[in-house]
Amino acid sequence: MGAEPQHSPTRRHVIIATSAAAAAAAAAVVIDRAVIGDQAGEPPDVAGQLTPNDGSWQRVAVSADVPDGRMHPFDLGLVSGFVRRVDGQPQAVSGVCTHQGCRLWFDASDDRLRCPCHSTSFAPTGQVLTHQLPMAPKPLPALMVREADGFIDVFAPVRRDQSG
Ligand code: FES
Repeated sequence: MGAEPQHSPTRRHVIIATSAAAAAAAAAVVIDRAVIGDQAGEPPDVAGQLTPNDGSWQRVAVSADVPDGRMHPFDLGLVSGFVRRVDGQPQAVSGVCTHQGCRLWFDASDDRLRCPCHSTSFAPTGQVLTHQLPMAPKPLPALMVREADGFIDVFAPVRRDQSG
C-alpha cells in the first residue's frame, strides 16, 4: 500500500504566486494614485483630469448645440465622452466606463450616464452613483475643455501612426 507522495503545489510555488500578485497589486496602486491623485488616503469622489502627453485641441461641438444641462456626446476616435455646460461653462467627461471599458450612454430621464455592461451609473460630473460590483469602480476622468469662436474643443491625444 505504499502511498506515493503527492505532487501538490509546493510552499515555494505558493509564495512565488503570492508575491507576484502582491507586486501587481502594489503596481496597480502606484499607477492608480499617479493617475487620479490620492487625497489623504480616501477613495476619490472625482477622478483626475485626462491630460495626454501628446494632444491637441479638437472640436467636439458647436457652442449653440450645448445649452445648459444638455449632455452632448462626442467621439474623437481615441477618446469619447460627453460635454455639457454648467453655469455657462463647458465641462467634459470621459464616456468610457472605468470598470471594463464599455461605452456609456446618457439616460436623460435620470440625469446619469449608464454602463450597459454591469449596470453602473455615473453622475454627469463623473462620480459613481450606483453599481452592482464587489468594489465601486473609479469615477470618470474629466477632460480639458475650452470654448472659442462658437465652438467647444477638448484636449485629446493625437494618432501618430499616420505619416504625412
Ligand atoms: S464595464 Fe461598466 S460596469 Fe462593468
